[in-house]
Amino acid sequence: MRSKILAIGAICAALMSLAACGKTGAAAGSAGVEHVAFMMPDQTATRYDKFDRPQFTAALKALCSKCQVDYYNASNDAQTQQAQFESALSKGAKAVVISAVDGKGAQAMVAEAKSQSVPVVAYDRYIAGANAYISYDNEKVGELQGQGLLDAMSARGTLQGNVFMINGSPTDPNAADFKSGAMKVLTGKVHIVFSHDTTNWDPTDAQNALEQALQRYGTKNIGGVLAAADGVAEASVAALKSAGVNPMPPLTGQDAELTAVQRIVAGEQTLTIFKEAKPEAQGAAQMTNALLTGGKPETSTTFENVPAVLLKPVLVNSGNIAQTVVQAGYYTREEICTAQFAPACKAAGL
Ligand code: BGC
Repeated sequence: MRSKILAIGAICAALMSLAACGKTGAAAGSAGVEHVAFMMPDQTATRYDKFDRPQFTAALKALCSKCQVDYYNASNDAQTQQAQFESALSKGAKAVVISAVDGKGAQAMVAEAKSQSVPVVAYDRYIAGANAYISYDNEKVGELQGQGLLDAMSARGTLQGNVFMINGSPTDPNAADFKSGAMKVLTGKVHIVFSHDTTNWDPTDAQNALEQALQRYGTKNIGGVLAAADGVAEASVAALKSAGVNPMPPLTGQDAELTAVQRIVAGEQTLTIFKEAKPEAQGAAQMTNALLTGGKPETSTTFENVPAVLLKPVLVNSGNIAQTVVQAGYYTREEICTAQFAPACKAAGL
């Protein structure tokens, strides 16, 4: 036992400073390892745990072998995220990559990180003052949703009908961009009777809101539903079904969640927006590594004065599932076309 301890001591002395060896969980972290906090906002969207986290971890590891990614998910709670941020800093995080639950509130975190010379990359959601920002073009996401909804309404002959908007969280800066992008396309062309900002992207809040709106405006003259992402799209389908609507009206989403792709195949959702995680995660990893090593983050534009990369979102509907999410390796045909969806898949040529 004693010789084992001595051996560990010797390795410690050889590999790292003695001070760091002696410390447990103190601010320095373990020497030789650079902690990078990867802080995602929620688990209602599957993307963060399923795609963003592994893609970012792999991309950063490839650039920085001594980097260790510490993953945090705030479960849609700004206070939880704040606590996670404090804990990341006290663990000795050398950089923080964050998708903020509350974009404005997160400015205080950026200031605190900066005061400790810890750079911050705003991931997917903008935070003023961040060292760099990477996202998809969120206004464009809204435009694609709006145009896709308009096209589907025109094809279904529901252009005169009532349109219901189920938007994202008011604390998520992207939600405002999705909405303004959609409004750019829809204003003056359709009759929007209801527009709801969903508290914290909570599907239950979205479902309740749409159920009440359907009671108020009736189900006879529905033109379409603009749902800002797949989580609230699923909630919207539940509300429509509970109000007895069948078939589903034109209905949008975002994220290319597996269940959304299946709803598209089954004709229950018109479209989703595919924002592949890989380029976003790789870009963020490059930015992080550059900031850690005194290099320059690779950016192609600025967003409100922050050096930025804005990637191009892609619309997915029943006509291009194979060429988009399947080709990118998000899901296999088998994952999409389970027994329940097999006939619909066949009809869609999948
Ligand atoms: C992201 C979307 C996501 C939503 C809910 C937005 O900021 O851009 O991809 O669906 O948040 O997490």
